[in-house]
Amino acid sequence: MNDAKPIANRATVTLTDNSTGKSLELPVLDGSVGPRAIDVSKLYAETGMFTYDPGFTSTASCDSDITYIDGEVGILMHRGYLIEDLAEHSDFMDVCYLLLHGELPSVKEKTAFEKSITYHTMLHEQMNNFFRGFRRDSHPMAVMVGVVGAMSAFYHDSTDINDPHQRMVASHRLIAKMPTIAAMAYKYSVGQPFVYPRNDLHYAENFLHMMFSVPCEEYKISPVLARAMDRIFILHADHEQNASTSTVRIAGSSNANPFACIAAGIASLWGPAHGGANEAVLQMLSEIGSKDRIPEFIKRAKDKDDPFRLMGFGHRVYKNYDPRAKVMQKSCHEVLGELGINDPMLEMAMELEKIALEDDYFVERKLFPNVDFYSGIILKAMGFPTSMFTVLFAVARTVGWVAQWREMIEDPKQRISRPRQLYHGATERAYVPLEKR
Ligand code: SDX
Repeated sequence: MNDAKPIANRATVTLTDNSTGKSLELPVLDGSVGPRAIDVSKLYAETGMFTYDPGFTSTASCDSDITYIDGEVGILMHRGYLIEDLAEHSDFMDVCYLLLHGELPSVKEKTAFEKSITYHTMLHEQMNNFFRGFRRDSHPMAVMVGVVGAMSAFYHDSTDINDPHQRMVASHRLIAKMPTIAAMAYKYSVGQPFVYPRNDLHYAENFLHMMFSVPCEEYKISPVLARAMDRIFILHADHEQNASTSTVRIAGSSNANPFACIAAGIASLWGPAHGGANEAVLQMLSEIGSKDRIPEFIKRAKDKDDPFRLMGFGHRVYKNYDPRAKVMQKSCHEVLGELGINDPMLEMAMELEKIALEDDYFVERKLFPNVDFYSGIILKAMGFPTSMFTVLFAVARTVGWVAQWREMIEDPKQRISRPRQLYHGATERAYVPLEKR
């Protein structure tokens, strides 16, 4: 975290109001790597003016030690470890421990952590009743928002956010129960019985078991699918201050119930501009239908009068290749190859990527494939319905949300998040009684 060095030892910038000639010296804060930040926290008190940054393109909302992204180069690191190394050498439990505790676990630490997660995978039995209130054709993300929010009504012994032990218990419960709830949302949508978690299975295996096994026959877990699932979880685990993580931080800044804060994050992730893009990519590829129609859709994506965008392309931070997309593309080939699936959608996605990356519109705007571009193709090959793609993103991102939420709660500088605005509305005017309107 930024140490509070006396301003005299810090670099500063000078802001001059050209209408008055008055200047203000503002401290410049250094991180361990990446852009420096101008501390404007005193700006309003000193000048009576706000900064203005809709969408927060140039705003650091917090200090964090968890994830670093260099969008220009296409680097993603969790606690200093490159995502490529974590995807290659770690499993999701390693990455969860790393995000929560700052270091990769020892064998002993990992065993204890994995045991704690495993023994929190079951839901309170009464929570099954919440599913019955949804229509069978509800979008599973709607079910996730509802059921995860309902956890705030069940687990009272882990909601005192000032108690470090309760914060950890709530974190483990959320990481552990998300796959169970996600699988139940799927089973409910297809009218199959819920499948309980098994304590002899690892996290990704357990999820596949709860998703695809049925009481009538033994379900054999494919090691290829389990490894691919685990890697997909790793690639989606955390991503700095994205929209859903910022939602969780802002919700949590009022000291709200942690389960309710994660439900808010799920709601934000659902949007097609964010986590909902993986589902939208598959819908887009289905709509394109064949390689010869790609130019037509590229043209539409460039047309300002057409709301169509190339889903899975572009990113607020990455102005180069999203490193997760590269790992995802490699996994795509591996999984489809090992499953012996020749999905024309993969060929079409690669052709679409090739054409887009040769087009000036995309090159000038630095629009590259993001994490969502290839993930849907693997998930489809693994047997997931498109409507479940963003649910899987939420399952994986829960560890990032809880790690960032805990970091915010434990930050001594933490205050309730309360941005201001640039007001364009009516100025004060006399009240007009009804008979005179
Ligand atoms: C995720 O923040 C995160 O870290 C998110 C995430 C995470 O892990 O949490 O990485 C996950 O959300 C990935 C993004 C998934 N979304 C999509 O794939 C949806 C399609 N992409 C776009 O909607 C868009 O690129 C965003 C939302 C991702 C980024 O939007 P920005 O940063 O606000 O960029 P912008 O809308 O200002 O676009 C800049 C220009 C515009 O053109 P001009 O006005 O300059 O002429 O690029 C154009 C946009 O019209 N543009 C696109 C485009 N994305 C941007 N044009 C066509 N197709 C696109 N996909």
